[in-house]
Amino acid sequence: MKQQHLAFADWLQGRAQHIEAVLDECLPAADALPARLHEAMRYAVLGGGKRIRAALVYAAGQACPVNGSAVAIQASMDRAAAAVELIHAYSLIHDDLPCMDDDTLRRGRPTTHVQFDEATAMLAGDALQPLAFELLADMPIAPALVVQATQALARAAGSLGMAGGQAIDLHSVGQALSRDELQTMHSMKTGAMLACSVALGGIVSGASSSTRQALDDYAQAVGLAFQVVDDILDVTADSASLGKTPGKDAAGNKPTYVSLLGLDDARALAEELRGAAHAALTPLGDAGSTLARLADYIVLRDR
Ligand code: IPE
Ligand code: IPE
Ligand code: MG
Ligand code: MG
Ligand code: MG
Repeated sequence: MKQQHLAFADWLQGRAQHIEAVLDECLPAADALPARLHEAMRYAVLGGGKRIRAALVYAAGQACPVNGSAVAIQASMDRAAAAVELIHAYSLIHDDLPCMDDDTLRRGRPTTHVQFDEATAMLAGDALQPLAFELLADMPIAPALVVQATQALARAAGSLGMAGGQAIDLHSVGQALSRDELQTMHSMKTGAMLACSVALGGIVSGASSSTRQALDDYAQAVGLAFQVVDDILDVTADSASLGKTPGKDAAGNKPTYVSLLGLDDARALAEELRGAAHAALTPLGDAGSTLARLADYIVLRDR
């Protein structure tokens, strides 16, 4: 068990280093005009983050039988993993703006609008989004799979996914949401992009519909678990480990799983979702083991 844990930690670190290099390569050079915009894009994307979304793309790919050229699939996995990290970085830039959560610390550094300025931060987010889709369009796999991947990412990032969840989040300040409403908000603002990351691993692999169904069941559970734990860490973690300012949800009067259920029941829910994620992987057998370890990491992490 300990051995397995170490092997997973190495794998995760290796994937984080790998995606960092891929992202570095696909972002415009810092001195390419307009340099300030490109500097801000690079600042927001590179040099931090747990890279959980990229890891989910790769782990979902590992769970699927190789179906086509392994080299083309690997190149496409890299582009898909980079695409989700770019959309995620854009969502963080905008989430931290004064008009949203008004945060000054992210990944242990000043937020992008603090380091640059608000207009540059907004534009950096704007520019990261199309770059993500450009990468998907460049995947050297069957065009039908490129279309599926594009649809999946567009839906996950849009008004029925992340952006919509963020809108609900902002409108919910000071309100007591029901459990269903809170689950909808969390599944949209955070779960959708995590679920999309898992789906992209399956799409790029050309996985069968039964494999994709198992992946989706897993993804729904880890997607929600991720934000439940984010809510918990906002209460329990310190800024040094979190790399962001804790206590912001309570200070901003945000409905969270901790405010709805209390800390103990929120922890119990995260644990329940971890069990559901594991159960969903049963049809995949040993091939799903890295996804299982990722579910553990998502629930047991301290940052
Ligand atoms: C934070 O996501 C924002 C949420 C969706 C809750 P992460 O905790 O994955 O942030 P990084 O990428 O590791 O910084
Ligand atoms: C943000 O949720 C979700 C996004 C789409 C970025 P939070 O506002 O809770 O994320 P943190 O805690 O600032 O990272
Ligand atoms: Mg927010
Ligand atoms: Mg926030
Ligand atoms: Mg949070």
